[in-house]
Amino acid sequence: NVAGAKYGVGFWKPGSGIIHQIILENYAYPGVMLIGTDSHTPNGGGLGGICIGVGGADAVDVMAGIPWELKCPKVIGVKLTGTLSGWTSPKDVILKVAGILTVKGGTGAIVEYHGPGVDSISCTGMATICNMGAEIGATTSVFPYNHRMRTYLEKTGRAEIAAVADEYSDLLVPDQGCEYDQIIELNLDELKPHINGPFTPDLAHPVSEVGAAAQKNGWPLEVKVGLIGSCTNSSYEDMGRAASVAKQALDKGLKCKAQFTVTPGSEQIRATIERDGYSKILGDVGGVVLANACGPCIGQWDRRDVKKGEKNTIVTSFNRNFTARNDANPATHAFVTSPEIVTALAIAGTLNFNPETDYLTAPNGEKFKLEPPNGDELPSKDFDPGQDTYQHPPADGSSLKVNVNPQSNRLQLLEPFDKWSGNDLENMQVLIKVKGKCTTDHISAAGPWLKFRGHLDNISNNMLIGAVNSENDAVNKIKNHLTGEYGGVPDVARHYKSMLHWSPGIWEGDVTYSAPQPDFLISSETNLKKQGLLPLTFNNPSDYDKIRPDDKISIRGLKSFAPGKPLTAVLKHSDGTEETLQLNHSFNETQIQWFQAGSALNRMKEMQH
Ligand SMILES: *[C@@H]1O[C@H](CO)[C@@H](O)[C@H](O)[C@H]1NC(C)=O
Ligand SMILES: *[C@@H]1O[C@H](CO)[C@@H](O)[C@H](O)[C@H]1NC(C)=O
Ligand SMILES: *[C@@H]1O[C@H](CO)[C@@H](O)[C@H](O)[C@H]1NC(C)=O
Ligand SMILES: *[C@@H]1O[C@H](CO)[C@@H](O)[C@H](O)[C@H]1NC(C)=O
Ligand SMILES: *[C@@H]1O[C@H](CO)[C@@H](O)[C@H](O)[C@H]1NC(C)=O
Repeated sequence: NVAGAKYGVGFWKPGSGIIHQIILENYAYPGVMLIGTDSHTPNGGGLGGICIGVGGADAVDVMAGIPWELKCPKVIGVKLTGTLSGWTSPKDVILKVAGILTVKGGTGAIVEYHGPGVDSISCTGMATICNMGAEIGATTSVFPYNHRMRTYLEKTGRAEIAAVADEYSDLLVPDQGCEYDQIIELNLDELKPHINGPFTPDLAHPVSEVGAAAQKNGWPLEVKVGLIGSCTNSSYEDMGRAASVAKQALDKGLKCKAQFTVTPGSEQIRATIERDGYSKILGDVGGVVLANACGPCIGQWDRRDVKKGEKNTIVTSFNRNFTARNDANPATHAFVTSPEIVTALAIAGTLNFNPETDYLTAPNGEKFKLEPPNGDELPSKDFDPGQDTYQHPPADGSSLKVNVNPQSNRLQLLEPFDKWSGNDLENMQVLIKVKGKCTTDHISAAGPWLKFRGHLDNISNNMLIGAVNSENDAVNKIKNHLTGEYGGVPDVARHYKSMLHWSPGIWEGDVTYSAPQPDFLISSETNLKKQGLLPLTFNNPSDYDKIRPDDKISIRGLKSFAPGKPLTAVLKHSDGTEETLQLNHSFNETQIQWFQAGSALNRMKEMQH
């Protein structure tokens, strides 16, 4: 549906601002496809780019010119009619879509917004909507190119890009008559401000109903803290709308009842809102303007006002969710809404406040209603870039060294994997025969392990710890065939590694693991091949049952490894019997070279010499 995509590579610089910080001279442009290593990469959809967040290893491949593959996404069309106005903000669009699709409903899909309502949304608003697509599991989201994007590009020093996009604008909108796998229609006129939560972003309530829902469910009504800012809901427009709400309260002599924090998402926003007086208003109403960083959105918050375990309510305009994310307190009920609603609720100090209908009381007893917020989409005086703290690397980088502390728990320089030995893989001890579901989460658990992503040795401690051992139905408890004792999967693997010939990349000399129909095959197969591993499938799927947990397996046929030519497995059972099976693979010539070199990166290095 998105025609005319060119390809580019880019990096999101964490905490650096909205759409325009991509190193390698590539930016999110209309019509460009961009792979980034941040979950916020899809922001670029607000500029009409197909911008997808991937893991570091995938990004390295793309930078190295190795094709990046994914299972062809479905396309969900969201048709917008009507116009955004009043207290309703772009975030209400995504909150509503999240409510319809739920947190999983967008999985494996690209969400394409279209329709006449699009033009009533600011460019940064579209970016926010795309960014939050992650909440519904979407691969990415995208808007068609329009004049809002043109103005934003012009304001951020990219008028020449806008001119090219204008020239090809017919390619940057959905094709006539294109079909979607699923279509959702939203009338923006009927959209009401929403607040989602607690704990999960797909529990959507109209702001007018959240007070009643809280009373019914026993969620604390008192808002302890309102938090705005962080990566995208700190656009100039967002801050302007929040300040316009704050100013109305200040004019009546009223300050926030709750604590209120403001985290500018970038140096440019910090400098611009300071220059234009928004910071002062937000400070005067009782807010604390924090450093421009991710801030409490990712838990950079030494919260002191409640004790751990104490039930309480906070209201944020952050995205992303999980319990205890912001303040490490699992009893904190976090609700997500737009910055202007957060500001209004921080002023009112209660969830049971609907700014569209309810009155506030000024210190002199006067009752007043807040007017709908307004904020300029873009600063009239241009952005103030603030301090330039970027350090340019030298033109000739050959003398640069990457210094990684060898004591680091989080980072480890990756050593190249060994090449294929040139022989068949003989008598590999089965490490684990897995029973039931074996997804990437069973193979490499996420959560607290994610912090070790940059340290291969440490993250290996999560290998297969979630998978069920077919021998004893236990999780992370397998037999060490050298000692006869049971231990965790990583521990047994490490013991084998220390005792037997081992080549990382393949569980060779001795070790292998197998799983019934892993559901990750399609997209992960290429990744495994890139790492020099041998993903194989049974010609006859029921052969899986022939494998016994204490088997030794030989893989034969590697010397004449060729596309389309099956390999052979010989199973040596502990009772002395043997069986032979056929194993299929999907390697092509190039991928066979990756296997032989030990990994795709090794192969690239070989080709440079
Ligand atoms: C948000 O957190 C809740 C509670 O931990 C969880 O049930 C829900 O699946 C999470 N949603 C997402 C999108 O991670
Ligand atoms: C912006 O705020 C909304 C709540 O209104 C939230 O759902 C969304 O995730 C936020 N976006 C970002 C990128 O932080
Ligand atoms: C991570 O690696 C470091 C350095 O090799 C090691 O000292 C540390 O114990 C490891 N930490 C964990 C949690 O595995
Ligand atoms: C395995 O490969 C053979 C030969 O290419 C093919 O005939 C067979 O259908 C494949 N088996 C499966 C299950 O795909
Ligand atoms: C092999 O597969 C890769 C995808 O992993 C593809 O990009 C490449 O063009 C293929 N090479 C050959 C020689 O078919």
